[in-house]
Amino acid sequence: MRRLIDKLERDHCLKKEEWMALIAAEAEKEYLYERARAVSGQYYGNKVYTRGLIEFTNYCRNNCYYCGIRRDNADVERYRLSEEEILSCCKEGYRLGFRTFVLQGGEDAYYTDDRLIHLIRAIKKAYGDCALTLSIGEKSKESCRKFFEAGADRYLLRHETANKEHYRSLHPKELSLEKRQECLYNLKEIGFQTGCGFMVGSPGQTVECLAEDMLFITELQPQMVGIGPFVPHHKTPFASEAAGSVERTLYLIGLLRLLKPNLLLPATTALGTMDENGRERGILAGANVVMPNLSPVGVRKKYALYDNKICTGDEAAECRMCLSGRMERIGYRLVTDRGDPAENECHLAGKKENYVQRNVTESGRVHQ
Ligand code: 5AD
Ligand code: FES
Repeated sequence: MRRLIDKLERDHCLKKEEWMALIAAEAEKEYLYERARAVSGQYYGNKVYTRGLIEFTNYCRNNCYYCGIRRDNADVERYRLSEEEILSCCKEGYRLGFRTFVLQGGEDAYYTDDRLIHLIRAIKKAYGDCALTLSIGEKSKESCRKFFEAGADRYLLRHETANKEHYRSLHPKELSLEKRQECLYNLKEIGFQTGCGFMVGSPGQTVECLAEDMLFITELQPQMVGIGPFVPHHKTPFASEAAGSVERTLYLIGLLRLLKPNLLLPATTALGTMDENGRERGILAGANVVMPNLSPVGVRKKYALYDNKICTGDEAAECRMCLSGRMERIGYRLVTDRGDPAENECHLAGKKENYVQRNVTESGRVHQ
């Protein structure tokens, strides 16, 4: 297995069977994490980037079987923040040192393109030195282009699984893997720094599904990849399914770091929910981003995608302070700059055939 880990670090790609063997074995963990830390150290030193997460609406028109804010969950107390409330989250975040804001929400019809564009412009006008990330689900190419033109810089849209049948088993039929992947390619083409990702241990996920996720990521070449363990939510069809494994999540974080050295890779809240030290362990396995919650404390419990989510109580008002302490204790430091992806020429130059399959630039915007 060491041979495959070395090969991944050297070539930045593996064959499907090789991925499957490595993921199934989950072997040589310490060696993998050591290599992953060395690689992220080369690109990012001991820096951990922070993104201020603003969960601005929990209305959602979708009905994903795993998600606590799915349309059919009538127990959810729905809320949406107004533009003023969102701006005041940004104001507080800016004061705390955040220079990236992530607007995350369900697919909420109230937030039409025009309202979103107004919001994006207002945030960029007030905080022109900050990066703005959208995480608002699948939108048409035209809409995404308008959001980009209004000033949004980045877009997170987890692909959830790259296996067609598995995708079908996680979502109602209105949603399709094809559309999801097409949306991700559109985002890259428009010029967004783009993030995909998946849950680890979602019901029905096999080692083959995970290998396909790795191949999809190799093809898409996103700037960010978010992964976290599946955590059941009691009011969903997957209420009694088993949660995903923390160990496997960490292993995949290590592999992703070697697959794409300059990747922005968060140690997610779901990882912190499944293990008190999950986020620290994520960083030590190769992650380099944390996303503290900036939502008003009063709404945090309502944005419950899964049970027992951390950082939802009053004690979590300042996740930023908590996380910077946590990172310092493991020898890392939270940084406040925008944290754009590091240049990756030294490692990947000359290996283009291994990773670029679409005509999209690797970093920054495509100016039209
Ligand atoms: N457990 C873990 N992650 C979840 N997500 C949604 N529901 C759950 C759950 N039950 C993840 C999905 C989604 C992201 C915003 O949160 O991957 O894309
Ligand atoms: Fe939110 Fe620790 S990060 S309370």
